Amino acid sequence: MSPMPLSQVHHITHPLVQHKLTLMRNKEASSTSFRTLLGELAMLMAYEVTRDMPTHLVEIETPLEKMQSPMIDGKKLVFASILRAGNGMLDGLLRVVPNARVGTVGLYRDPKTLQAVEYYFKMPADMAERDVIAVDPMLATGHSAVAAIQRIKACAPRSIKFLCLLAAPEGIATLQQAHPDVPIYTAAIDRQLNDHGYILPGLGDAGDRIFGTK
Ligand code: URA
Repeated sequence: MSPMPLSQVHHITHPLVQHKLTLMRNKEASSTSFRTLLGELAMLMAYEVTRDMPTHLVEIETPLEKMQSPMIDGKKLVFASILRAGNGMLDGLLRVVPNARVGTVGLYRDPKTLQAVEYYFKMPADMAERDVIAVDPMLATGHSAVAAIQRIKACAPRSIKFLCLLAAPEGIATLQQAHPDVPIYTAAIDRQLNDHGYILPGLGDAGDRIFGTK
């Protein structure tokens, strides 16, 4: 039997995305500008990650006449934020898709094993008709993403995608192996991880930079 093909990696190379990412990577960027840029990037990336959402025609009436016009299929989209850095992308995503639902996955990284340990999980009801976009700005080792998606899959949503800002090749490989059916959307694929599981060249600790906790 031939192996299942690996999930697609969508590298979003739009100049605006790359420009804003460069500003964020700079260690001199303040917490305020880091947060603002992450929100703007989330809005731009939302456009790409929702590009293939299925639509159906509904009949409406403009001030001039009736017409058939497209609407997104099924129940409302779910943005599943992987805490805590995932929350940094939520506002931007919700500005573009204001009626989306929000799910939350709380995981922390065991500093010794670098494995993900779950401490919180909440998803909307009726997941069977929903499309989920799991969100974490950093795809580093991939352990958190793999564990989060495993938990989300247990709710049997219609589809799952993974959206991040930066990905390490190691994280992509780990996620593709564990969930070959989950496409990955990223603004950059960096060189490698360091011994502490940080992405190089990266942008540092995304959570600390968003929330100013360093
Ligand atoms: N998480 C971060 O915030 N940064 C990294 O480089 C890796 C994981």
